[in-house]
Amino acid sequence: MGQVTLSGKGRRWVLGGHPWIYRDDIAGGEAEPGELLHVEDPNGNSIGWGLFSASSKIAVRLVTSDKAQPKREFWVERVGRAIKAREAMGYLNPEGACRLIAGDADRLPGWIVDLYGRTAVVQSSIQATDRMRDFLVELLEEALPFELETIVDRSDSSVRRFEDLDTRVETLKGEVRDSLVVSEVGLEYEVDVLGGHKTGHYLDQRVNRIRAADLNRGGRVLDAFSYDGLFGIRAALAGASEVICLDQSSSAGERLLRNAERNGVAAKVKFEKVNCMQELRNRLEAGETYDLVVVDPPAFARNRREIKGAERGYVEVNRRAMGLVNPGGLLVSASCSYNVRQPDFVQFLGSASRLAARDVWLEEMRGAAPDHPALLALPESNYLKCAFLRVP
Ligand SMILES: C[S@@+](CC[C@H](N)C(=O)[O-])C[C@H]1O[C@@H](n2cnc3c(N)ncnc32)[C@H](O)[C@@H]1O
Repeated sequence: MGQVTLSGKGRRWVLGGHPWIYRDDIAGGEAEPGELLHVEDPNGNSIGWGLFSASSKIAVRLVTSDKAQPKREFWVERVGRAIKAREAMGYLNPEGACRLIAGDADRLPGWIVDLYGRTAVVQSSIQATDRMRDFLVELLEEALPFELETIVDRSDSSVRRFEDLDTRVETLKGEVRDSLVVSEVGLEYEVDVLGGHKTGHYLDQRVNRIRAADLNRGGRVLDAFSYDGLFGIRAALAGASEVICLDQSSSAGERLLRNAERNGVAAKVKFEKVNCMQELRNRLEAGETYDLVVVDPPAFARNRREIKGAERGYVEVNRRAMGLVNPGGLLVSASCSYNVRQPDFVQFLGSASRLAARDVWLEEMRGAAPDHPALLALPESNYLKCAFLRVP
């Protein structure tokens, strides 16, 4: 069994409540890559148990501060707790979709499970969950109140490189349907669990899409960085007169058009495969305007070093987007870069409004859907910012 001893600084950090222990804060001990290990303070007192990485700067992710070693019942309880919480949110539905397990935020570090109907997509991002994968899949199947047809392992996220892990995509159970369709509050959509982004879909924006559609009934909509178009399709379902979706991915665009057809709004929804940065500028220069503009770009800052470049990106994209909003209309502007904190993002939006020479009101600052919890002890889990901005 592995064991590490913290330095005095490491002890103070952990007692502050954060569950990650950095390599620099470890004074001694040893463990196998991916092992569950015992963490002790410099005096040999128990701090708890965590999952060890032999490669990442985050050497240990604490799973408990209990003295007793976690056994099978511990993991059964953790998985069960996550699933019960989704059930309480009203998200556990064999025809619907949700994030069942959100890794560190569910105190199951490195382990994500997304549910699309009776298909579960699991994603392991650390050495420990690679070791525990089959066990965690077994617990998932035991805990769910319905049977899974298909289980896919989409462990192909780029963060695996920090753990010296290769990527893999494997079907662990059943077969992936040619067209996997799920329903979510009056909407049906297709998910590509093998080739789509993340585990196939951006589940974190579900409530923001509903809110944006509610606030715009009847106007023209521009959905930039649309992926498979659910901001736009929701807006069309709520009565938008015309919806233009822009993204660089042609496969997402094809799915988007099938989704529009499936929901009976194909006549109103168009897709263009473009570079959004350029296209927003083109539309601004052409004098186009919309009642609702959505900009939901990929993370511009993947680490602290990239923040300066990200600032330029967010200011520029929002400056252009603000210029495209009709007076009285709405801009929904998202940032999924954890490294850009909410006050920074609001400041970037302020710079954009100055450059766009438009007054802009911050009506609501929203986050991810509840099935992507923001654990208070782990600020890193509070990554999504979705600003609802009125342009009077
Ligand atoms: C965060 S996702 C958007 C999610 C989407 N709004 C939703 O609700 O599902 C970002 C999208 O931006 C697209 N993208 C990234 N860079 C782009 C660019 N320069 N021009 C157009 N699309 C881009 C990606 O293909 C991806 O679909």
